Amino acid sequence: MQDNDPVVVLEHVSVQYGDVAALDDVTLEIQQGEIIGIVGESGAGKSTLLNLLDAATHPTGGRVTLHGTDPTQLSGREIRLLRRRIGMIFQGFNLLANRTARQNVALPLRLQRTQDPALVAELLDYVGLADRADHYPAQLSGGQKQRVAIARALVTRPGLLLADEPTSSLDTRATEDVLELLASTRRDFDATIVLVTHELESVAAIADRAAVLERGALRSVFPVVRSAVHERRDSYLAHAQRVLGA
Ligand SMILES: Nc1ncnc2c1ncn2[C@@H]1O[C@H](COP(=O)(O)OP(=O)(O)O)[C@@H](O)[C@H]1O
Ligand SMILES: [Mg+2]
Repeated sequence: MQDNDPVVVLEHVSVQYGDVAALDDVTLEIQQGEIIGIVGESGAGKSTLLNLLDAATHPTGGRVTLHGTDPTQLSGREIRLLRRRIGMIFQGFNLLANRTARQNVALPLRLQRTQDPALVAELLDYVGLADRADHYPAQLSGGQKQRVAIARALVTRPGLLLADEPTSSLDTRATEDVLELLASTRRDFDATIVLVTHELESVAAIADRAAVLERGALRSVFPVVRSAVHERRDSYLAHAQRVLGA
C-alpha cells in the first residue's frame, strides 16, 4: 500500500438483512489522517457501515478495501493482524467491570500474549487518567470510562480509529473532552478517525468531512465548516443561558 492510498475504500457496497437494505450501493474513500463524520438518523445504517470497516462483517454486495486489502480474501490469522490496526470505541464503553482502568487498557496486548506496562501507563497519562489507573469502571464517570476506552483502543497503535456514537451517553463537558481527545489522537498517533454519530455538533467540532446516510443510502459527502460544540471556557450557566436564550 502506498502512503497516499486511501485507508478505506468502499465500492458499491450493500448489506442486506433479509428484506432490509441496511446499506445500499455505498461508494466512499477515506484518506489517511482525515476525520470523517458519518451522520444519519437512527436506523440509517451507520453502525452497519462501521462494522464493515472493522472487518467484523462482510458486505453482501460490492467491495471493501481496508489498508489496501480485501478482508474477504484474508485467512483468519490475517484478519486478526488487520484488526490490530483498527481500534473501536463504543457508546457504552465496553469496559470489563471486574478489571481496573489499567487492566482494561492492557487487555488488547494480553490477547496478543504480550505486555507493555510502560506503554499502558503512558496512555493512561495521555488520556488524563494517570491518577485513576487502579480504579474500576464503576468508580469512574462516563467521560472517564470513555477515555479509558480510547486508551485501550490506542494501545495497539491502530492507525484507524472507529467510534460508534462515542459521546452519545455523555454530558456536554465530557463530550467536549472526548472530542478534543479524539482530535488530538490524529495529531499524536497519526490516526485516521471515523466518527459515527447522530450528533451533528460533534461532527462540526472535529471532522474534516461529513457523510450523510439516509435509509442505507449515502446521500451526500461534503467538507465540514468547523464550529466549536460549546465554548470551552463557558460555565454551565453561560452555556444554559446561550442555548436556552435567557
Ligand atoms: N444484525 C442485523 N440483523 C437484522 N437487521 C439489522 C441488523 N443490524 C442492523 N439491522 C437493520 O439495518 C438497519 C440499519 O441499522 P444500523 O446500521 O444499526 O443503523 P444506525 O447505526 O444508523 O442506527 C436498521 O433497519 C436495522 O434494523
Ligand atoms: Mg448505530
